Amino acid sequence: MAEEAILKFLQNNEEIADSGQFSAEQNLDHNEVINVIKSLHAFLYIDAKDIKRESWVLTDEGKKYAAEGSPEVQLFLAVPVEGSISKDELQKKLAPSVFKIGCSQAGKNKWVEMGKQVSRKVQHVEDKVKNLLLQTQEGMEIDEESLKSLKTRKLIEPQTWKGYSIKKGPNYAPKRKNFATDLTRENLQNWKELEFKEYNFNAKGQPVDAGHLHPLLKVRKQLKDIFRQMGFEEMPTNNFVESSFWNFDALFQPQQHPARDSHDTFFLKAPSTTRELPEDYVERVKQVHESGGYGSRGYNYDWKREEANKNLLRTHTTAVSSRMLYALAKKPFTPKKYFSIDRVFRNEAVDRTHLAEFHQIEGLVCDRGLTLGDLIGILHDFFSRLGMSKLRFKPAYNPYTEPSMEIFSYHEGLGKWVEIGNSGMFRPEMLLPMGLPEDVRVIAWGLSLERPTMILYGIGNIRDLFGHKVDLDLIKRNPICRIGI
Ligand code: PHE
Repeated sequence: MAEEAILKFLQNNEEIADSGQFSAEQNLDHNEVINVIKSLHAFLYIDAKDIKRESWVLTDEGKKYAAEGSPEVQLFLAVPVEGSISKDELQKKLAPSVFKIGCSQAGKNKWVEMGKQVSRKVQHVEDKVKNLLLQTQEGMEIDEESLKSLKTRKLIEPQTWKGYSIKKGPNYAPKRKNFATDLTRENLQNWKELEFKEYNFNAKGQPVDAGHLHPLLKVRKQLKDIFRQMGFEEMPTNNFVESSFWNFDALFQPQQHPARDSHDTFFLKAPSTTRELPEDYVERVKQVHESGGYGSRGYNYDWKREEANKNLLRTHTTAVSSRMLYALAKKPFTPKKYFSIDRVFRNEAVDRTHLAEFHQIEGLVCDRGLTLGDLIGILHDFFSRLGMSKLRFKPAYNPYTEPSMEIFSYHEGLGKWVEIGNSGMFRPEMLLPMGLPEDVRVIAWGLSLERPTMILYGIGNIRDLFGHKVDLDLIKRNPICRIGI
């Protein structure tokens, strides 16, 4: 409608001097006219020049007085024609703001005598303020001084009106041409008759609605790359359910160890026990727990098969390492470097740094004659690739490693040493019952995937990273991960 009106009008007239006036004459909505002008201008059908006009409009307070009269007149009318009224009485008759403003303005105008009693000083008053407001509302001009007083009383405010003056443009036509936009079969057949719309190479494409990787997956990918660059093979970790045997017993963790309590470990109700274990190996594990061997005295307790049979959600990926080392021991020995990154479960109270399920990164090297020096060396190599080159080690205890070391790294941002992992050399009580050659040593370490991810992505609460409280938009916005740069 508006487009047709504008183009037609320009066909017979030099210009449209004022889009506002034009809209009023043609009975069109000015906002719609403005939109059409912008579009016609973009395609050079018309030339358009801005016009701006300052005008005055009433504030909410101004609108009220234009309808109900100014406070000073309202107050004057509330004072009796003859005699007087007490100030308290008068206050009761008026709204608080009308009374307050009315008193000061009517006093200033010398319309009333203000004291304890209030009386009229003049017989008749004219509501000049109301009249000025009505004039302004109708778009009439008012004198400079009145304008200033309405402005100071905040009864009017300036408003800029925007419109256009327009003329024919270089591409003017009485009717907009419809360009062909798509390369359809029909359009290609009629290409000679058609005019094709030009490509807009600056147009932004549709945002791609694709899947997004979770930060944990991005960091895991980087870590996998690092392990592979160091020549490590990935262990198969696709069993969340594990038997107590592989999770604990094979790792020389005594059956009365507190970690094997249901307060720390999730045991399965169904199936509650494992179906099969390698019997001859189970026998050797039982022996080493009960009475030792291989130079060890063992723990001296009654080892129970039922305890080893119990199924659980693995509490660490070291359960996978024990299966892998056992498999390795069955064949002629070859050195191995293994790693895994996968989920583990612990029956823990959830807080801002703990979850009942999280991910572990685990690395191990298995070869003849390895020493603690090799472990320290490989930890320096691994962690410096993560951007952590200042390391310290603290003696620690694990049932399955001796010696064991906690790993600390100096965090430049926090200005202090933070614990980043755990490590050690697997005990002979673990390796020899498996059947590995006597001079084979295994050095290993483990850490959580969540800790470095939170540091890399600046996430303070682990529940914002993993679980049902995660904001999916955050996953979409997360940048790619580049470790150690
Ligand atoms: N399994 C240990 C843990 O749960 C980590 C670890 C792995 C320690 C290998 C020593 C050797 O923290």
